[in-house]
Amino acid sequence: MLLLSPEDRVVILTGAGVSAESGIKTFRDCDGLWEKHNIEDVATPEGFSRNPRLVWKFYNERRTQLYKVKPNLAHTALVELEKMLGDSFFLITQNVDNLHERAGTQRLVHMHGELLKIRCTGCDRVFHIETKQPDLPRCSECQALLRPHIVWFGEIPFHMDCIHLTLKKCSLFIAIGTSGQVHPASQFIQIAKSFGARTLVINPDPDTYKAYTKDIDYFIAKPAGDALSELVQEYSESFAAKIC
Ligand code: OAD
Repeated sequence: MLLLSPEDRVVILTGAGVSAESGIKTFRDCDGLWEKHNIEDVATPEGFSRNPRLVWKFYNERRTQLYKVKPNLAHTALVELEKMLGDSFFLITQNVDNLHERAGTQRLVHMHGELLKIRCTGCDRVFHIETKQPDLPRCSECQALLRPHIVWFGEIPFHMDCIHLTLKKCSLFIAIGTSGQVHPASQFIQIAKSFGARTLVINPDPDTYKAYTKDIDYFIAKPAGDALSELVQEYSESFAAKIC
């Protein structure tokens, strides 16, 4: 049975599992980032107020790692899918790395921010960065302290209006490599389903999204790279048959 059809409008939600095969640690798996770091210290506005140096150190380490990793099979399969679906493809990522863009994905939003952007705590200007930052960097415009452009716990994710619009219009929603534990992304499957979409979860852990079982139509219990390569291969055959 074909999960994807050429008529589908597809919205994809990706999480840390999609970058796992590139060598970036997930957050909640065994040996994940939240096992070694305290969320309250490095991923909350209060933690940043208490100890901005510690927070900058944490994100500087994440940023440095970006230069050592490459997009994997899952990222490239999603690029292939976008080429075939065009404007019927939309990707929402919770990941703050840049591997989707480096692979070539164009129609995407980073709902939890980006490691290669920083923001002024005074004037809210956003700056792109490539290089290592000085200790506690300051805004070149207003001199206030700069912070990572990352959505911390207790803050509102980016692009929510646009995300809600696409969820209402999609016919197939796919959640890949995310534990479904963080609000509001965890609820996208329910929202898409309530507007009539079919839903697919791709995750090697069959217990993922346990709280949303009734909203899941299909589950592929495989790593993202394998599952997406197979899905895209199957889809490209049906797509080719349709346009021949
Ligand atoms: P999690 O660490 O919570 O979940 C990662 C998921 O990836 C788990 O369900 C794994 O089973 C799955 N996984 C592991 N390897 C995989 C593979 N090769 N292929 C597919 N799946 C695999 O990460 P997220 O759900 O992304 O927020 O976490 C959501 C948010 O929580 C993150 O964006 C981050 C974190 O706090 C911020 O930093 C703002």
